[in-house]
Amino acid sequence: MPIEVTPAWLTKQAELSLRRLLPRLRATFAAAPGDEWQVIESRLAAQFERLFGLLYHLYGARYDFFYHLEQILETAARMALERPADLKARDREREANANWFESQEMLGGVCYVDLFAGNLAGLRSKLPYLKELGLTYLHLMPLFKAPQGENDGGYAVSSYREVNPSLGTMAELSDLAGELRRHGISLVVDFVFNHTSEEHDWARRAQAGEEEYEDFYYVFPDRVMPDAYERNLREIFPGARPGSFTWRPDMGKWVWTTFYSFQWDLNYGNPAVFRAMLEEMLSLANTGVEVLRLDAVAFIWKQLGTSCENLPEAHMIIQAYNALARIAAPALIFKSEAIVHPDEVARYISPERCQLSYNPLLMALLWESLATREVDLLQHSMAERFGIAPGCAWVNYVRVHDDIGWTFDDAAANRLGINGYDHRRFLNAFYTGRFPGSFSRGLPFMENPRTGDARISGTCASLAGLEKALREEDDEEVELAIRRILLIHSVILSIGGIPLIYLGDEVGTLNDYAYRNDPTKAADSRWVHRPFTDWTRIQCRADLTTIEGRVYAGLRRLIALRKANATLANGNMLVIDPGNRHVFGYVRQSQEGRLLILCNFSENEQPIAANTVRAHGLSYAFRDHISGRDVELKDDLVLAPYQVQWVTAR
Ligand code: GLC
Ligand code: GLC
Repeated sequence: MPIEVTPAWLTKQAELSLRRLLPRLRATFAAAPGDEWQVIESRLAAQFERLFGLLYHLYGARYDFFYHLEQILETAARMALERPADLKARDREREANANWFESQEMLGGVCYVDLFAGNLAGLRSKLPYLKELGLTYLHLMPLFKAPQGENDGGYAVSSYREVNPSLGTMAELSDLAGELRRHGISLVVDFVFNHTSEEHDWARRAQAGEEEYEDFYYVFPDRVMPDAYERNLREIFPGARPGSFTWRPDMGKWVWTTFYSFQWDLNYGNPAVFRAMLEEMLSLANTGVEVLRLDAVAFIWKQLGTSCENLPEAHMIIQAYNALARIAAPALIFKSEAIVHPDEVARYISPERCQLSYNPLLMALLWESLATREVDLLQHSMAERFGIAPGCAWVNYVRVHDDIGWTFDDAAANRLGINGYDHRRFLNAFYTGRFPGSFSRGLPFMENPRTGDARISGTCASLAGLEKALREEDDEEVELAIRRILLIHSVILSIGGIPLIYLGDEVGTLNDYAYRNDPTKAADSRWVHRPFTDWTRIQCRADLTTIEGRVYAGLRRLIALRKANATLANGNMLVIDPGNRHVFGYVRQSQEGRLLILCNFSENEQPIAANTVRAHGLSYAFRDHISGRDVELKDDLVLAPYQVQWVTAR
């Protein structure tokens, strides 16, 4: 008779399994010093029921489930015991203060080690600069061993245990993590777990015909299955290659490659892959990484007849890794990189999944509002979608190393009379500078001639108008471009969550077209916004007569205001309607007080009715913290072009 899998049955099986497994684990780890095994055992007991349920759903139908379950627990326990003492101390600290990342002191930065500072030693020497900026969170772009030449900016990992030799060593990475930690900066790296490079040892062994390792990937003898899957798949990098599979003449087989053909998708249907990647994940944690950015999280489970994105099993895998992190490295948290429909983005965010998530909707709509000079879609979408579970936080950004995709909800746009398809075409035309009057100098990324779809590459400053204004030597336009840069940064610094600065943006870095001369980069326009850091420009940051100085000073002021204002902690935020389509307004409130934020997204002055300002809890006398001026509210308030006000009652 088939078993009926009810919650009660699962609870019983979990208890029974743990009872059977514990004596075996205790024996394996009998030599653990002091009370260390006790600590692990109590965490295991706290997480086991949830973990068992998830793994049972994923792998319970296999005859060898119990074997894999034991292997997984053994891996977690071994890695927990191997964790260095200072990180065990960090675990206790974070367990006592799980919401540490909600502080208004948090400020993130992201950079490529080689482009920013040459190598890890160089990066270390830039610590004073990172501290001056106020960073508490540093995301280093993929820095592990990767194929020479094309490697998708390091997103094709050949070994998770070796730093790319041109950047340094694993020992340097963990030293750096320690030093950052002592300076109040958490190290963030990618967990590129959807795929490995074709040069990873597992892929090599698959290429050599080892069946056990073929099972680590999706390998097919002919086009039957690839064709069947492709009926429902979206093409992620259509400009590079059509479809999602790559023919390997050496193997005489097809391999699943969602992104580039040298990035082989891992097969999480195989519990051996789950276990092997668990070990890689925990070894990253044990080098001192505190936040793992779960790369391409939407794609990690495939099922015929579906889009193979955002499947329930993908969520189970993340939850299982989350539970295992609570056992083996409690200080570790996850950030979701799901650049998908906003409904799907939201589903990855919870204390049991990813505590942090990129906020691609806010990012896209900030640019959308700059292009249209209207905030309807931004206002509407943030009112509806900004709220997330307690114990979680958005990572708010205006630019990162990737393209901008217009991932807003078409139904929401429709309600505002905006046709999603047409609007995306407009935004692409605007940001590539093809639309008449556009201030922007972006490039199309992965235009798909079949669907007419495209995304946008370009640095913040070039997209915001600085490149065009400088080329045309138009001082007024330069001023407007700088205001746009500061305006959108002011939002990510105040709306709630961790603001993330793409390093270089703080001094208004422009597009760099040199990538076109490099054959390993020329086909991927994202390299236009991944230039080498020009330190002579950063050295100008104190000189207010330079562009660098103007952007930097403006940003530093906003950062200082953020850090000093406890009302900006956590993510409580109320979108208001300022009664003017060009002005985005919201209120941040806490026991510390109430802050009203008003942002003019147009290059014209915009009035806001005095009543509106008063209705949001302010008296007749208030103070704008950005200009540092006291304001008497006798008449309507008037915002200058692209002006932002952070106002409190006086
Ligand atoms: C993520 C990265 C992107 C990379 C892709 C494949 O989306 O942000 O840069 O191309 O994953 O790893
Ligand atoms: C990665 C790619 C981005 C793509 C996304 C799809 O982030 O870089 O271009 O839109 O994956 O999820």
